[in-house]
Parts: sequence; C-alpha cells; structure tokens
Amino acid sequence: MLQRKKRKIFVTSALPYANGPIHLGHLVEYVQTDIWVRFQKLLSNFTVYICADDAHGTPIMLRAQKEKITPEELIDKVWKEHTRDFSSFFIAFDSYFTTHSEENRELSSKIYKNLADKGLVAVKKIKQMFDTEKQMFLPDRFIKGECPKCMAKDQFGDACEVCGATYNPTELVNPKSELSGKTPITKESDHHFFLLSNKKCVSFLKQWTTESGRLQSEALNKINEWLKSDSTGKSMLTDWDISRDPPYFGFEIPDEPMKFFYVWLDAPIGYYASLKNWCKKNDKNFYDFVKPDSKYEQVHFIGKDILYFHSLFWPAILKFSGYRVPTAIYAHGFLTINGKKMSKSKGTYITAEEYIKAGLNPEWLRYYIAAKLNGTMEDIDLNLEDFMNKINSDLVGKYINILSRTSGFVTKFFEGKVIDYTTINNININISDLEKKFSKHIIDIQNNYEQRNTSRVIRDLVSLMDSVNLFIDDNKPWILAKKIAENPIERESLEYVLAVSLNYFAKLTILIKPILPAVALRVENEVFNIQKPWLWEDIYNLEIKSINPVGHLISRVDQNDLQKINNEV
Ligand code: 2FM
Ligand code: ZN
Repeated sequence: MLQRKKRKIFVTSALPYANGPIHLGHLVEYVQTDIWVRFQKLLSNFTVYICADDAHGTPIMLRAQKEKITPEELIDKVWKEHTRDFSSFFIAFDSYFTTHSEENRELSSKIYKNLADKGLVAVKKIKQMFDTEKQMFLPDRFIKGECPKCMAKDQFGDACEVCGATYNPTELVNPKSELSGKTPITKESDHHFFLLSNKKCVSFLKQWTTESGRLQSEALNKINEWLKSDSTGKSMLTDWDISRDPPYFGFEIPDEPMKFFYVWLDAPIGYYASLKNWCKKNDKNFYDFVKPDSKYEQVHFIGKDILYFHSLFWPAILKFSGYRVPTAIYAHGFLTINGKKMSKSKGTYITAEEYIKAGLNPEWLRYYIAAKLNGTMEDIDLNLEDFMNKINSDLVGKYINILSRTSGFVTKFFEGKVIDYTTINNININISDLEKKFSKHIIDIQNNYEQRNTSRVIRDLVSLMDSVNLFIDDNKPWILAKKIAENPIERESLEYVLAVSLNYFAKLTILIKPILPAVALRVENEVFNIQKPWLWEDIYNLEIKSINPVGHLISRVDQNDLQKINNEV
C-alpha cells in the first residue's frame, strides 16, 4: 500500500435549530457526515468534526415565550435533547457547541467589523410588515394571506405552495399576522446589508465557485443561475439583509444599539465558534485552521436547501473579513418516507427519539441511509419494506452469516484459536479469487467513501460478502467437520477454511466500520479480542488469533418493527 501524506480536515454538518427535535430527515446529513469523518479518521487523517445548535432567531424567541421560559432555558433544554439523540445514532462530533456563546459573539462582531471596514456593509431603509399588537416586525413565515399571483388562500409571506411564486410579504393580498391574527401594517426601518452585489464579491464568487472540487456539478449549475448577469451585465446577486429589529433573540450589532445580527449571519460563524471552543479545550491554535493560507481543509456538509447561504454568502463573508475560504461544500437531498414528504406541520415525521424509543436499532438506519446516498443532491426515500429486506438480506443474511457459519467450529474444534493461514501452503484450497476480488474492491470502496458515494460502497461490500459466503459454500466446513474423525488431514483443511473466512470477515468489518461503528467495535473487542481499534491499513496485515462466541450482533427487522415506525408516519 502506498504511504500517503496525512490530510488535516475540519468538517461540519449544518447546525440544527434549537427549537425542535432531531428527526430522520436531519439524520441523513449527520449520518452522511459521520460516515465520511469516521472514514477519514480510519485512514489516520487528522479530522475534527464540528457542529452546534443554531440558537438564535424569532421562532426560538417565540417558542420560549410560549413555554414561559427564557430563550436561554429553552436552548439549554434542546441542546441536551439534541446531544442525546446524536449520541444514540453514534454521531461522533468532536465538538457540539451553541451559537449563543461568547466565542460566537466575538467572532461575529469581528467579522462584521472587518466587512464594514472594507466598505461592504451599508444601511438601507426597508419596508416590512409590522404587528402593532405584538409590537414587532414579522418574519415572512409569520404572515399569511392570499398569493398575489394565483390568489390561493393561506399562503406564507415568501412563497406560494400552490403556484410556486415567490414574492415579498408586502405583496400578499389580505395579509394576517400569525401571532395576533391582525392585519399588519407596513413600517419602515433601517437595516444593515452585506453588499454581496458589490463587484469584488461577484468576481470572487465567480472564481471560487468554479474552482475544482468546491461544489458538486449540479450545485454549480444552480449557483451559475444565481451568479449570471442580467441584460445590462449586472449580476443577479442582491445585497443581503443581515440585521433585525428588536424584539429579537440574538447578538446586538456592535455600536448599533437596538439592531441585532440576523440568525443566518451568526449561524455559519458558529462553525468557527465551535471549533474555537474545541481548540481551547484541546490546546490547538484556532488561527491555524482559519487563516487564509491554512493547511487544513474546511469541508461543509449541508442540505440542498441551504446551498445559497453556504456557497455564496459564507465564502464571500470569509474572504472579505480576512479568513480562509471553504475547501468544499457537499450538499445532499431530502428524505421522503414511503415516497411521502416529511412535513412538520402535518405531523408526518419521525423523530430520532421516537425511532430509538420504539426499540429500533440505530445502525439499521445508518446502513440504510448509506445504501441510498450517492454523493449527489438527489432526494432519497426510506421505503420501509425495502429497509427491512436490505437489513435482513445484507447485514444478517450475508455479513453476520459469515461469522455464524464459522465461529461455532472454531470454538468446538480449536478452542477458539485461529491459525495464521498465510503461513500454510500445503493445502489445496484456492483463495486467489477471494484475494483478487478484495484487492480490487478495497480500492473502489476507498474511492467511493471519499466521494460520499456510499450506495456504491455498499454495493461492493455486499459483493465481497457474497464472495466470502461462496468460499464457505465451496469448502463446506460442516462436511470437513464431520470427516475429521475419519481423516485427520481434514482437520487442517477445516482450520484453514475457518481462518480464511474469519480473516475476510474481519476485513469486511474494517471496511464497514464507518457505517456500523458499534457493531465493528463489538467485533473487535468481543469477537476477536482486539483492544486497539483497527485502522484502514490493518486490512493489509490482519492477524486474527482467536475468537469468542458472541451472541446477536445484529438482529433481523420484522414487520412489528416496521409497524412501530409506520404508526408514526
Ligand atoms: O437550515 C437550518 O436548519 C439552519 N439552522 C442551518 C444552519 S447551518 C449553518 F450555517 F450554521
Ligand atoms: Zn400562487
């Protein structure tokens, strides 16, 4: 195996809002990122996985009011729920922080001041909907009315779900505040804008977005739409409103009393705040990660809905406030369940907590999500029948089956000892097909993990599981075991077949480790008595010496289990 230079990578998943539970739709992203991070760590690349709760904004403020607690109490409570849910799905963040932190306040203020010093912030007067009863400006989603294009009733202030039109809330016909039910008035206020349409920003973004590896090709197509110029040659990008008026739960803008940073300004900066907090705790130099010529890669995993923020605002903000720019943005699609959209408002979604409380195995879902994701922005469907068939056929019927078909013989005939089959050459059992197939697929699997094409990783893994099972079918350890009494030579053959099968089972375990970390850990510790976790390179020099009989590593999914999730859908 070639010795590669080790990479240094700082990886993020999008920060979930601190006003609601983690659901299976969220988990697509955390599972995808966690698999990628575990894969990088398995390759011994220095990788730091960062996340946090996104704690600011109007919905959080209003929910706290409704629950009659302070926003701080709400975000503390939700932070505990989120960290509990992530750990039950084995999402292994190095740092899970909050955007409501001193680190984030300082970084947001500093970044804002740097942008202002560069002349990239301007104050403009805007007109917004104002609820006179609640004495507050209304975010788009807190106003409903008739669509100005098709007159459909009950549409939000930003877009029509019936005809797809987008508009300003001031254009809604017969608008009503969702908070008081009253008709809002239009009121003027000063807002701070980040001047994204500035030539400097546009030309930077035109270059950055097209640099190799930054964005997926389908993401780039979308971004080119946003970046293209109108008939006068002016870019279609518009300046970005980064301030909000009180009441607002967020950070006050320095030297601008009664003006707050819009949540989407300090949210991505929260990646840095979380990293900074981790650096402090781990005695690392934060600046090494974020300086313009940093040797670290900075990789963001996101959903396709927040591509605009991450591929335009965020790189431009970083660039012009004196920081490094992201190395890559990886967007994924949405999750449907049995072909249906998950919708919070319709109550048709499954939370992480419900899944776990129903007694379902989190690694089933990790495996299924991995089997569906292919590194593009396509939506994926959790089809419950397919979920059951896949887990039962691949994991129970193929992967664990290798162990079930062999481990009993090792215990019964060889006191749990596994020989070093590579030193034996007087046995007429052909393993070259197996060797060849593994050598080729290991490279493909490595490349596909890197590309986040885990559906291909799994396709290849399953094909390798089939080969090991075929090897067992061909060499029939159960027949060899019967013949031992008559012919002692069979004892060596049996010992050899078992050692080969178990070594290849161990190789499969290393290959599947990023997807099934808990099962892999049990295989290492309990089955093979390995104390030091395997690394990717161990695939090439495994030494299995003994095994212990171990009960169920993965159980089957049955109709009852499906019913438990179906009830929720
Ligand atoms: O869309 C969301 O759920 C946001 N809370 C994501 C923020 S990601 C980052 F920019 F902080
Ligand atoms: Zn409409």
